[in-house]
Amino acid sequence: MITEQQKQEVAEMYQGEVYGEAFYCALLPLFDSPLQQHLIASLLQLETENKARLRQIVYEHGGDISESDQSREEARGFIREVEHMSWTEATAYMVAASVEFQDRYREIVKTAPDVFKPVLNYMIEHEDLIIAAMRLASEGEDEKAIDLVADQLMLPLPKPAAF
Ligand SMILES: [Fe+2]
Repeated sequence: MITEQQKQEVAEMYQGEVYGEAFYCALLPLFDSPLQQHLIASLLQLETENKARLRQIVYEHGGDISESDQSREEARGFIREVEHMSWTEATAYMVAASVEFQDRYREIVKTAPDVFKPVLNYMIEHEDLIIAAMRLASEGEDEKAIDLVADQLMLPLPKPAAF
């Protein structure tokens, strides 16, 4: 038996990916070196893939798959906090913000029904990965960060011709 609260928690994670997509879209115009662009674009791709993964279970259990404008607005609000930062500062700041998401996801997975666990555990691994990639980027290791993200993608982004 899946409770209403458990369904809402999965829907909350789904909206978290909507937030993530809006966040990386808004980040794209702020950092323009080819490596920065490729990392941000790959993270955007990861959020999209994970949103699609969660959409399956939200839909299966009768939840609302509409993408919330509020999630997008919150993401744009967060962007205003990083828009004047250097790449190093912004990526370090994003590590801290992702840790908060991850704490919430870990809380949700604890009481989730078994049927949700494979996807939810995957989501936690994905947050771990974003944190590791952002940490590498904040240490000047953009290429390693890109590889880490690209390895997780079902549809990795090809390197642009100008690379
Ligand atoms: Fe995410």
